[in-house]
Amino acid sequence: MVQVEGKHHADYTDFEAVHSREDVLEMLVMSYKSLSEGQDDWVCNLSNASSLLWHAYQSLNVNVNWSGFYITKRDKDDELLLGPFQGKVACQSILFGKGVCGTAASSQETQVVMDVNKFPDHIACDGETLSEIVVPIVSAEGKTLGVIDLDCLDYNGFGETDKKYLEELAQLIVETCNFLR
Ligand code: SME
Repeated sequence: MVQVEGKHHADYTDFEAVHSREDVLEMLVMSYKSLSEGQDDWVCNLSNASSLLWHAYQSLNVNVNWSGFYITKRDKDDELLLGPFQGKVACQSILFGKGVCGTAASSQETQVVMDVNKFPDHIACDGETLSEIVVPIVSAEGKTLGVIDLDCLDYNGFGETDKKYLEELAQLIVETCNFLR
């Protein structure tokens, strides 16, 4: 990463001075870009991305209770495995086509779920979650590499603005991370 003079790594999670959802999420994308410069290890980059996501939504007073990633297994391309995250312990493995994550992975389309009780196949890792957004991470060759997953303790936690910026983040992840090691 480019070290900005006088800036500590933890300062990247300081979203408090920025207010609108658009501005906070734009700052999140820019912060990810800076932090991943010269670094292509996916565990390293997605660990910091989970933290950025967590702190960005906390600063907006959105009751996010889980932010993180599921990554496509290297030896089985129809199964997601738990990746870096912030929040409570979650289910380790999700088949493509199952739950919100598996649906995003197989359809390669972002799933914005306003009420998880109305998503027939929702996998309740945490019974307190009420809404969710899952964004697929798709390589230039069209392979699903994984998904970004955010859960919220309120209904209607996420919408079009989140979809726009999280899809931008997913694209940046494709460009910056090497998933082969
Ligand atoms: N609810 C997700 C499972 C993952 S947890 O939210 C962390 C789903 O239905 O795929």
